[in-house]
Order: sequence, then C-alpha cells, then structure tokens
Amino acid sequence: MPEHIPVIAVDGPSGSGKGVVASYLATQYGYHLLDSGALYRLVGLAARKAGIELENNPDQVVLGDIAQSLDVSFTPTNDPENPLAITLNGERVEAEVRTDEAGVDASLVGAVPSVRDGLFELQRSFREAPGLVADGRDMGTVVFPQADVKIFLTASAEARAERRYNQLKHKDIGVSLHDLFQSIQARDERDRTREVSPLRPADDAFVIDSTDMDIEEVLHQVQAIVTEKLG
Ligand code: DC
Repeated sequence: MPEHIPVIAVDGPSGSGKGVVASYLATQYGYHLLDSGALYRLVGLAARKAGIELENNPDQVVLGDIAQSLDVSFTPTNDPENPLAITLNGERVEAEVRTDEAGVDASLVGAVPSVRDGLFELQRSFREAPGLVADGRDMGTVVFPQADVKIFLTASAEARAERRYNQLKHKDIGVSLHDLFQSIQARDERDRTREVSPLRPADDAFVIDSTDMDIEEVLHQVQAIVTEKLG
C-alpha cells in the first residue's frame, strides 16, 4: 500500500489569518507548505509583465499557457523579515507578489478556468511526505477534496480591512481604510461568485470566524481541531 501523506487544507478569504495559521501548522508538524495564492499572484504578475490585459475578457488560452508553464521557485531564507525567496523566470519577485495590486490581479486570473486547470497538477505535486499544509480558496473543495483536516477561516470584511490597514501602517505605507475595505469587498465578491472553484467552505470543513478573536485564540482552536484529527 502506498504511504498515506496527510493534507491539512486551510481556506478562507484574504486577511482571515489563514497564512499565519498555515505556516504555524507547517512548522508545528514539519509539513510542506503550499501557498496557492502565491501561484495565482505569480500568474497575474507573469501576465502583466507580458503586457496581457486582465480586466476585460482576458485571453484564456494565453493565460492557461502561462499557468501551465510557470517557471517559479520557493526557497526558505534565514531572514525573518523575508522568510521565503520567490523567483519568476529566475528573477526575485517576493516583494512584487505581496502587493495588494498583485492580490487583485491574482483574483482576476483566478476566475479564468484555464488558469485553474493549468495550476492544478502543480498544486497537487506539493503533497510530499511527511505531509502538506495547503493554503488557499479551494484546497478543501477542489484541489485536495480528500484532505485529512479542512479548516475554513473567515472574518468580517471590516475586521480584515482593519488588520490590513494596521499591517501597512506598521510598514509606513499610507492607505485609506475605506479604500482597503472596498477593495477587500470587491475581491471577496469575485472570489465567491466565480463559476469555477468559488470560495466556499467544504461541507466537512471546520469553520472558524476570527472577527472577534486574536491570532493566539485562533491558533489555539486550530491546534485543538488538528490534534483531534491527526493526533
Ligand atoms: O491568498 P491570497 O490573498 O494570496 O490570494 C490572492 C487571490 O488569488 C485571491 O483573491 C483569489 C486567488 N486565489 C484563488 O483563486 N484560488 C486559490 N486557491 C488561492 C488564491
């Protein structure tokens, strides 16, 4: 019998805390980590660099080809401020992929079926021993429907905009809370209503609403769920 490689799926909208939860679990269990949002961000970035229009009826074939042949690498660094080096066609891009603009582009390309198909096998290939924590929107519903544990993290759009605002303020980046709130709402709407792999909890997911919780409380709840499921 082939060895069973466990998967923990962590899905939810942007700013719900799933990134922190996913890297906490990966460290805790010594598992690999798939940041699927980064892959969608990289497709968006590669398309922008190639001068491809993303807003109105983007070219499905061209975008599908970009997703299918994405030349990327993720390498851990020793720098706590920048723990993961990301390259696209050999060029370091981690600062570029983390911007809010790259998030919006990722959401645009994420609605294109050929992009989702093009990234499917690449995402599945991250499942290696001893296990995988997969962070995204459709990890528990589409990419790893047999995941051993499924967590869906959510929070009100107001709370998520405020978290992002405080993060950016901390980095001395000036933005308006209202603009952030509107951008988060627009992205949520697109991610939830798209025809392919919309953002939604799997039927067997544990849903955690972190609106009124701090990150320690969230990690505590998540840990209890995963311990019960995986031991
Ligand atoms: O998790 P993130 O903020 O990096 O994701 C950016 C966008 O990428 C998100 O708004 C929608 C898209 N995405 C997706 O469609 N499917 C995923 N599994 C992950 C991200």
